[in-house]
Amino acid sequence: MVMRRSSSDLKFLSEMEKSLLSLFMTCMALFIILLTLSRRLKLKKRKISAGGVRPAQLPRGSLGWPFIGETLEFISCAYSPRPESFMDKRRLLYGKVFKSHIFGSPTIVSTDAEVSRVVLQSDAKAFVPSYPKSLTELMGKSSILLINGGLHRRVHGLIGAFFKSPLLKSQITTDMHKYVKDLMSGWQDNQLIFIQDETKHIVFHILVRVLIGLEPGEEMQFLKHNFQEFIAGLMSLPVKLPGSRLYKSLQAKKKMVMLVEKIIKEKRKNMNNSSDDDQKAPRDVIDVLLNDNSLKDDLISDNMIDLMIPGEDSVPILVTLAIKYLSDCPLALHQLENENIQLKEKKSKQGESTTLNWTDYLSLQFTQDVITETLRLGNIISGILRMAMKDMEIKGHFIPKGWCVFTYFRSVHLDETLYEDPHQFNPWRWKDKDMNSCGFTAFGGGQRLCPGLDLARLEASIFLHHLVTNFTWVAEEDQVVNFPTVRMKRRMPIRVKRKVAT
Ligand code: HEM
Repeated sequence: MVMRRSSSDLKFLSEMEKSLLSLFMTCMALFIILLTLSRRLKLKKRKISAGGVRPAQLPRGSLGWPFIGETLEFISCAYSPRPESFMDKRRLLYGKVFKSHIFGSPTIVSTDAEVSRVVLQSDAKAFVPSYPKSLTELMGKSSILLINGGLHRRVHGLIGAFFKSPLLKSQITTDMHKYVKDLMSGWQDNQLIFIQDETKHIVFHILVRVLIGLEPGEEMQFLKHNFQEFIAGLMSLPVKLPGSRLYKSLQAKKKMVMLVEKIIKEKRKNMNNSSDDDQKAPRDVIDVLLNDNSLKDDLISDNMIDLMIPGEDSVPILVTLAIKYLSDCPLALHQLENENIQLKEKKSKQGESTTLNWTDYLSLQFTQDVITETLRLGNIISGILRMAMKDMEIKGHFIPKGWCVFTYFRSVHLDETLYEDPHQFNPWRWKDKDMNSCGFTAFGGGQRLCPGLDLARLEASIFLHHLVTNFTWVAEEDQVVNFPTVRMKRRMPIRVKRKVAT
């Protein structure tokens, strides 16, 4: 029979039982002390073995409350107009690199350009991407955003090379001109235009054309509808039960993948039937990946949808923010307008087509500086998360295996030691400035450097060119929202007026 005793019965314990209990308690205490000491010793040993004269230290900081850590404070700052205030407070207390506990994981936060650069440059043996669970569920295991090593290098290389190809640039420039012209031809004087919506519409069409070669039409509408359903679940609870947000998003992805698979089959058939080399030149990303025989169809179709995630929202927000900043800075708007009008006039004087090409846009130096400054100040991607695959030491900071590192670009881009008057929109600061020397990482870096960076700049340049050469506008009051993604609270309404043709 098992005897149960409550704590109040303790006083009735025999002397023997009491001494056994106290012996047990002492042993437990000793065990806990020894465990803590051995862990500390192990950490110290790891730090020493990591090399360097001074052993690396786990950065200072606080892990906050059990389970939730410092997540609530991080989120409340993220919703404010100054999300970096979470980092600023801790930078003052602990320095540019500190430890915290956010989104369920112990995390080293880096607001130090040099440390972040090393993290970005590291390969998958040191750091791998880390995303919230709902996002990894939706992306699938073979997504370019998640794969590592040789397969990642191959897929990234193929896509990056294609995005840089002159053929694609000329095709995008032509398409974008057409879409922008069609869109703007419908704008009436004094009409209120919501820039964020208009740019989203155009950019989605371009993206789908670049990735899978679809023209606007029924299938495009089908994709657009399902993509909205799909991304609604990116930041949802990781519950896959029927009816849940994540479940609905997964269903939407399935429908999109089926459409892409159909396109792949047609393309394969055409490729096999065609003997003409011209027909085989890649016209979209599917073509590029199909040309690599080692990539399976399901990897290609899954990735087409996953590639839409980084491309779909970022470019419209870049254009929207640029228009917001320009509206608040008439001097910059005036200079940008002049630069674009001059190029247009020069082209027509030379009897050339006024449809500009990619190199024309690149030659618009001030327009490019406006885009760079918008990226710096707007911080569309505020930072990225990586997970340490082994114990690491960077610039004297110890990063234990399994911890996350949050390279927070926003704090670097707004660091007053790197940028004078950092909260000011000042495109002139980029005149003769080397982007690589001031911690500018709007497009990331290293092996995962954004392959869409040229595409993003090109699309933004074309939209701005058409807007400033054809319209004047008055912007209505609006505010930038920074979390969970950067956007304008009222979708950036402007009242447009068509310029009189001279
Ligand atoms: C303003 C526009 C954009 C910004 C600010 C931006 C920013 C970034 C950043 C910071 C990364 C690095 C992520 C990491 O290191 O984990 C990245 C990666 C990526 N971006 Fe962009 N991006 C933009 C536009 C685009 C566009 C238009 C595409 C075209 C599809 C694109 C496709 C990608 C892809 C596929 C990756 C993952 C690369 C890899 O992991 O190998 N991005 N982007």
